[in-house]
Amino acid sequence: MGGSGEAATNLAAYGHGMRRTTGTTEPIAEAAARARIEEVGAGQFKAAVRAMWALGDYHTFAKELVWDLGPVLVEACGISAGQRVLDVAAGTGNVAIRAAATGARVISSDLTPENFEAGRREALVQGVELEWVEADAETLPFGDDEFDVVTSSFGAMFAPDHRAVADELLRVCRPGGTIGMLNFTPEGTAGEFFAVLGRYMPPPPPGALPPVLWGSEEHVRELFGERVAKLDLTRQEYVERSSTPIDYCEFFKRTFGPVVGLYASLADQPDQVAALDRDFLEFATRSNRGAPEGPAEYHYQYLVVVARKRGD
Ligand SMILES: C[S@@+](CC[C@H](N)C(=O)[O-])C[C@H]1O[C@@H](n2cnc3c(N)ncnc32)[C@H](O)[C@@H]1O
Repeated sequence: MGGSGEAATNLAAYGHGMRRTTGTTEPIAEAAARARIEEVGAGQFKAAVRAMWALGDYHTFAKELVWDLGPVLVEACGISAGQRVLDVAAGTGNVAIRAAATGARVISSDLTPENFEAGRREALVQGVELEWVEADAETLPFGDDEFDVVTSSFGAMFAPDHRAVADELLRVCRPGGTIGMLNFTPEGTAGEFFAVLGRYMPPPPPGALPPVLWGSEEHVRELFGERVAKLDLTRQEYVERSSTPIDYCEFFKRTFGPVVGLYASLADQPDQVAALDRDFLEFATRSNRGAPEGPAEYHYQYLVVVARKRGD
């Protein structure tokens, strides 16, 4: 992390883009969006996003709050021994390690290889073997039809070019194979969480689509279109817990890269830091569904996507 300027750039994709909970899904708009992202320098943008997700301690964050969800996607996709599985934007292996535990042959890929070491340690503890490969979800370094199952839990949704991601997930999956995703919905607590943080972030690069659009059934149907023979879309909910709303905020400030980066970007603006602290805590207090005596509980809605690629 090279100072507050860089942190601000890193956060661009998570700023106004997160705030837009509705957005156009017209192919023309998306094509234009892609072109504009290319203009501002895709390589530079991706390097900044990678640096952001390397901040904090993603594995500690994941183990505490989202680790129960990896098995949800493994089960939804029916992953089993002998299958070739690619997990995209895998973080430290939430889905990938669980997929490997079934006996599947798994590649865990992510834009941010800085987090692989924690994933390797976790895999060792779990007694499973898998491969770790640096990869951008928009340009996967794998051949056509290579995998029986391609997964992504709360990961590929963060790449700005949704059409490119959908194309790549489909391309590397064999005909008749399965593509599975867990994506936050625009309407739920995640939409509010990102909206609060978005107030303090610089605008995203022109054309970046909001990640939570991947939680809209209509958007997913439009992206996969006729290329899938079957598409199951189910909304579900999971709960994050913390002793108190203050502890919840502090945990994010310590472990979750985008939040760590946001605070770093504001370090020379104490008024902004104080305002963000206030808004973040207000969100954590307002969204708490736990009993008054605690713990604090946050209910997050997500979309389970299970698609079968046409053509077997
Ligand atoms: C919230 S984490 C989810 C990680 C993991 N799937 C899990 O369930 O714990 C988001 C992940 O997306 C990755 N990511 C963001 N943009 C990406 C991109 N364009 N291509 C691949 N990975 C990306 C980040 O590096 C990060 O590991």
